[in-house]
Amino acid sequence: MRIDKYLANLGIVPRRQIKKLLKTWGVLLNNELVNSAQTKIKEWDMILLHGDEIPVKFTVHILLHKPTWYISSNLDEGEYTSYKDLLDNCPYGELLEIAGRLDVDTEWLLFCSSDGKVIHDIIHPHKKVEKEYYVETTGAITETMIKKLEEWVDLNGKTTLPAKAKKLTEHSLQLTIVEGKYHQVKRMLAAVNNKVAYLRRDRIDEWTLEGIEKGEWKYIEL
Ligand code: URA
Repeated sequence: MRIDKYLANLGIVPRRQIKKLLKTWGVLLNNELVNSAQTKIKEWDMILLHGDEIPVKFTVHILLHKPTWYISSNLDEGEYTSYKDLLDNCPYGELLEIAGRLDVDTEWLLFCSSDGKVIHDIIHPHKKVEKEYYVETTGAITETMIKKLEEWVDLNGKTTLPAKAKKLTEHSLQLTIVEGKYHQVKRMLAAVNNKVAYLRRDRIDEWTLEGIEKGEWKYIEL
């Protein structure tokens, strides 16, 4: 891909200023100054722009450790700040979308990708990608509830797919589902006459937040 097109796609520099930027100042590509808009770049080349190192990546996937009260939408809404704020230090922030939103009061694992097919495969129930949640409840958890959650519950006339439910303590469980219906975990607990007091997503497929501090993110390779 040409460097001008790549920089334009990133959205860091306005499209119409890129040629001028390259001509006037140039950009460091693998520590060499380039001025030609037609310069070809390849995956893992290193661009230095405005003092920031940008590893060239044609598709980007990241794991983000979302704190509560950040909203899983691309713009701030009311008092809630968009998760995109946490990606300010990511050169690809503009290109990323979420595979499976979290409510504002739910925290931990957000998977973001620039690749629509990857996102589709993670969220589509037929692909059976596991999403594992740690849930605390206001009411005591009974064996009957665990059984029901594992079989199916009715959510507004639609039944849930089989899930894995494991009681951890009187008021906490691990719930693993392959779907991502609106407020699914909270509604599943409500359907068995309980209520979520605290919710976090610990895992999507093989990915966890190991080594990622709250509010931080890291690149992953698929
Ligand atoms: N289920 C919910 O109810 N909320 C979330 O944020 C995620 C799953």
